[in-house]
Amino acid sequence: MTRHLLTGHVLHFAGNPFTGPWQDAVRIAENSALLIENGQIAAIGEDARTAAGPEAVHHDYGGHLILPGFIDAHAHYPQTAMIASWGKRLIDWLNTYTFPEEIRLSDPDYATRIASRYLDLVLDHGTTSVASFCTIHPHSAEALFEAGAARGMAIVAGKTCMDRNAPDALCDTAQSAYDDSKALLTRWHGKGRAVYAITPRFSPTSTPEQLHALGALWAEHPEALMQTHLSEQVDEIAWVRDLFPQARDYLDTYEATGLLGARGLYGHSIHLEPREIDRLREVGAGVVHCPTSNTFIGSGLFDLMGLARAGQGVGLATDTGGGSSFSMLRTMAAAYEVAQLRGEAVHAAQLLWLATAGSAAVLHRGNEIGSLAPGMAADICVLDLASTPAIAQRAAEAEDIWEAVFPTIMMGDDRAVSATWVNGLPLRGGN
Ligand code: GUN
Ligand code: ZN
Repeated sequence: MTRHLLTGHVLHFAGNPFTGPWQDAVRIAENSALLIENGQIAAIGEDARTAAGPEAVHHDYGGHLILPGFIDAHAHYPQTAMIASWGKRLIDWLNTYTFPEEIRLSDPDYATRIASRYLDLVLDHGTTSVASFCTIHPHSAEALFEAGAARGMAIVAGKTCMDRNAPDALCDTAQSAYDDSKALLTRWHGKGRAVYAITPRFSPTSTPEQLHALGALWAEHPEALMQTHLSEQVDEIAWVRDLFPQARDYLDTYEATGLLGARGLYGHSIHLEPREIDRLREVGAGVVHCPTSNTFIGSGLFDLMGLARAGQGVGLATDTGGGSSFSMLRTMAAAYEVAQLRGEAVHAAQLLWLATAGSAAVLHRGNEIGSLAPGMAADICVLDLASTPAIAQRAAEAEDIWEAVFPTIMMGDDRAVSATWVNGLPLRGGN
């Protein structure tokens, strides 16, 4: 099998830059190297040059930054074609734009087309793994897993489950949600690079019976992940209180039904009560920050620094199509801006860690993706740090490498992605 030697500036992680000094946790080795063999990273730095031998194919990325492929820890691929829909807040936005588009995926051919379109767009943006909601149709999950397998991508996905407060065409039942999710889980979990996530959309669209059924399924298959939404908008939280009068808080609607656990992913988690914050951390659950969505739909300012410093696992995500971009660069920029509105400055090193290793950790795939080290999958993004005249003129003034990287985080888009490697192959920009 061909070996590939990539040269450029290489991003390294030695720890979590939120729980200790970022300087100890994240480093950029300038003019370094990385060797790929059999789809994995075989060596880094001088070891890579030595081990490459004369037959390795050399990809010289010059002054570009070589980093782990971005990991989008919460997205809705079925919403690809309705991203950037104007003027609504969460519940209205779901009813006006989202549900009608998700009904279109009842056509398996359309679902297949959208799954391919979506993954091609994320690869253009340097994203190599996603955790995505699908629609209620089992074939929508099949479509994404198939499209991911065709590209060699590590995909997390699950059939979305809803049995109330949604159009009839998008409702399953407690029993069919259990049966269909179980069949998909059995077929896809661990097949190639696929991981199954049991996916109740959110408490307002599931009866307690459905939540219990999915909690029972998770107990039978604790190896699966579970993904849902939590405390995104104030109106939504009030609705949950009406629908679940017995619950202590929003998280309790999941906790009481077997849907709180370490392998659980709770998207948004903006307006949390102290008890919810404690419980999420105690069980080791992951929360997912969706900053472009939280500003676009007007949801609120997630407490990234407070939660991450306290040891809460946090991933980063676009939340396509509530989020307004497929780009994890744009998403990091929004995370920076939201933290500024809360009076905190997130360092570029912390943002890059969050979009890669941080997301990998909440997906429980940190031993495979999210960092560049021998034995990890060769899922790689290469960033041109001077991709537009505006970015280039700013980067030219930089006094150190971090000052050169930050303008690309704040101002970059898919033009900054000079290559995307998946499973050891250059799907974009092999040069
Ligand atoms: N809450 C329930 N469903 C959704 C969704 O599709 N997008 C977002 N942003 N929030 C949700
Ligand atoms: Zn979402």
